[in-house]
Amino acid sequence: MRYSPEFVDRVQEASNLRDVISQYSQLKQSGNGYMGRCPFPDHAEKTPSFSLSESKQVYHCFGCKKSGNIFSFLRDYNGMSFPEAVEYLAERASIPLPEIQTQKNEQDNERYVEQSEHYKSQQDTKKQMLKANKIAAHFFSETLKRAPSDHPIKTYIKKRNLTAETIEEFQIGYAPVEWEGLANHLHKQNISSALAEEAKLIRARKEGNGHFDLFRDRLMFPILSPMQEVLAFGGRIHDQGEPKYLNSPETQVFNKGRVLYGLAHTAKYIRSDDAVIVVEGYMDLVSLFQAGLKNVAATMGTALTAEGAKLIKRLTTNVIVLFDSDEAGQRAAERSLPLLLAAGLYPKGLILKDAKDPDEYVTKFGLQSLKEKIDTSPELFNMVLQMWMADYKGEASQKVKLMDQVRPVFDAISDTRLKSLYAQELSHRMSVPLDWVRSALTGAGSNKDYPRMRSADPHQKEPGVPTQEAKTASSTPLQPLFLLSGASQAEVMLLQFSLKSRANFEIYLSQQILSQISHLGVKNLFEKAEQVYRQDVNKFDRLTSLLIDYVDRPELLFSNSSVGGIGAVDFDVEKENKIIADCCRRIQQTFLKSQAKKM
Ligand code: UTP
Ligand code: MN
Repeated sequence: MRYSPEFVDRVQEASNLRDVISQYSQLKQSGNGYMGRCPFPDHAEKTPSFSLSESKQVYHCFGCKKSGNIFSFLRDYNGMSFPEAVEYLAERASIPLPEIQTQKNEQDNERYVEQSEHYKSQQDTKKQMLKANKIAAHFFSETLKRAPSDHPIKTYIKKRNLTAETIEEFQIGYAPVEWEGLANHLHKQNISSALAEEAKLIRARKEGNGHFDLFRDRLMFPILSPMQEVLAFGGRIHDQGEPKYLNSPETQVFNKGRVLYGLAHTAKYIRSDDAVIVVEGYMDLVSLFQAGLKNVAATMGTALTAEGAKLIKRLTTNVIVLFDSDEAGQRAAERSLPLLLAAGLYPKGLILKDAKDPDEYVTKFGLQSLKEKIDTSPELFNMVLQMWMADYKGEASQKVKLMDQVRPVFDAISDTRLKSLYAQELSHRMSVPLDWVRSALTGAGSNKDYPRMRSADPHQKEPGVPTQEAKTASSTPLQPLFLLSGASQAEVMLLQFSLKSRANFEIYLSQQILSQISHLGVKNLFEKAEQVYRQDVNKFDRLTSLLIDYVDRPELLFSNSSVGGIGAVDFDVEKENKIIADCCRRIQQTFLKSQAKKM
């Protein structure tokens, strides 16, 4: 669902960044703004260096240099997508979501009403299902708490070394043995059986009336959305039996391929560490988190999907695939390679020896050992190549087969520099000339019907083909359009000081320097700023928050010398005038020099 700019504006107007961030950090007034300890987990600081401007609705940490607006905060801290953040804020501000946007003309009127009615009732059902799931999660967690200490489930929890803190954090619960424990509870809570059935919590009996619980006698892992809604469950058997894990079937609120388990808890750590470790299961994630490795996300036993890669890309481009050491884990690692590359991510890979999975490894060898392994993990491309070349003896047929295997991987890469480096790696490992690799990859002489890698998920798109979603994603507000990297100091400083106050921005305008700015990103950004400002000078306060969404390095919008926070009033007007003029002079000199060279 895409929301109109007007609706997004309305939601933004009704929201306050300070209220949202105050949930995670205590903020104190300082000058015109607020200061507090940085809420991001990697930055456990003693002296507050996190600064927030209520009038501009932006934040900047002078310590770790993270900065943004309300949408980027919800993305970086909670892992929300842009539409999710809009929905979350609308909900907080009690603004109803707009009805479905369709062409509304005379002829279509009837259809429009029908569609929008349908949409409304669908939204309503979703809300009700989330409510039922929440009640269920609470029921499971209470049931676990109430179980006597000698109950088999408690023994199992001890055996798995799960602490009370971890159980609390992940809202782990227990589905009782009885056939109708949850069904009765939901009934008491006025959840209709039809709704509970649709939420896949209960099932109608084949014979006679009544319903029975889907999950019985299992350790329950709720699967949460970034907004902490309960989307579904995974339930582990604690005894012998099949299946080991029972997962909620897909519902209107749960699409397995679109969710990574644990992200609701780990997004902020992934963002802070600028890296994610992808594991294969519930227990691996929970166990690593408990051991202190918190920048983790888990697939739920299926291969990583294009949507999963997209979720990751919101938070980081650095991925370490840490799958089980069995055959299935290796296949999953192979399959994830083209997907991760196609999403523009930088994947590394790690297969642990002497333990069947990351959970067992960290229990056996400790966190330090695992961290060392992660730090030295090879590129996933190299790891996969090594697996594919295990019996490579340089025979001609092997060479050709190998090229068929790697071709889809190359097809998935859009960065030509990376392609060329991987081609070199291939030529080196295969002991063949680079030219041969290149021509083999571009197709000369190869069978056009080269085997594609099998995909476990029938809905999954073929690797290498950019999906429609990937294409439209670049037009969402959270993709950088102004690349500031590489700009000169004078140009960056001019940007910082011009955006600091309206008075400064007026001085910048009076200098008429735009056409002489050499860095394209800075120039485009100034152009956009001028355009917004000229439309409505009263929008100055919102300018920084607006621009933050469009730049690759938002921290560059904030000057390091902003003592007293970004909302500070106590700055020296004279001094800032002079700085702006100085920057403009330097920019002009550079411009004149470059003109002279051209002549
Ligand atoms: P694993 O069999 O590796 O389980 O399956 P695990 O995560 O290590 O769990 P423990 O340590 O045995 O308790 C990995 C993931 O595959 C999915 C689950 O998401 C699981 O976490 N899976 C596995 C299922 O959905 N159903 C199954 O029967 C088994
Ligand atoms: Mn395991």
